[in-house]
Amino acid sequence: LGSNTLLYEGKAKKLYGTKDSGVLRVEYLDQATALNGVRKDFVDGKGSLNNQITSLVFEQFNQSGIKNHFVEKISKHEQLVESLEMIPLEVVIRNVSAGSFSKRLAITEGLPLAFPVLEFYYKEDQLDDPIINEDHIKILEIATEQEIETIKQEAHKINQALIDLFKKIDIQLIDFKIEFGKRADGTILLADEITPDTCRLWDEETKDHLDKDVYRRNLGELIPVYQEVLDRLEKVFNQN
Ligand code: C5P
Repeated sequence: LGSNTLLYEGKAKKLYGTKDSGVLRVEYLDQATALNGVRKDFVDGKGSLNNQITSLVFEQFNQSGIKNHFVEKISKHEQLVESLEMIPLEVVIRNVSAGSFSKRLAITEGLPLAFPVLEFYYKEDQLDDPIINEDHIKILEIATEQEIETIKQEAHKINQALIDLFKKIDIQLIDFKIEFGKRADGTILLADEITPDTCRLWDEETKDHLDKDVYRRNLGELIPVYQEVLDRLEKVFNQN
């Protein structure tokens, strides 16, 4: 990989090579999308807020032993991450009914679930990221049985860590999506991002939406809401 080569352009970030072949530079974009990119808007300041939020979460994870790809935040809107072979799965965990779960199963939003419900989606734009099960993952050779087991265990660990982290800032973690990557030696670790783009976060008291649903559902301005999440995190975790 050449230094500074654009390797990938996603909906919310761009990925570049660096001089170190094991490290990538991620640039968080001032862009919000919904409906798999059908709706797209420029949102000034969103990139830097998400970069700061995910950096802080991943730094906390590094300290508490949840291994992940994060290396270093190098500017307001950029960070360095370990280069991994990404596993094309979106792993969703739900603690409270909401979103597509509520829609698909006709369950009112906001009902606490008896246990954390884990779902897999196949990350494939052309198919619109369909929900799939473990047999599908194996038959498509997306991951082996053992890798699926590791992913599930890690995801549940991450769920508990996130519940605890957000509880400290009076936020209820409704659900979230994570992605995993693989090192050359086969180690699986958390990658991508953890931001209000990828989590549903409700204010514990008011139940206000502090996440991308504000944009998806036209509930108001996105920036003040993401800023609020970052402010609360920085207050408790004391970082800049
Ligand atoms: O839409 P749905 O209810 O399935 O979303 C579950 C969780 O996964 C939400 O927190 C949402 O923000 C996240 N998600 C995501 N990227 C997607 C789909 C869902 O981050 N492509």
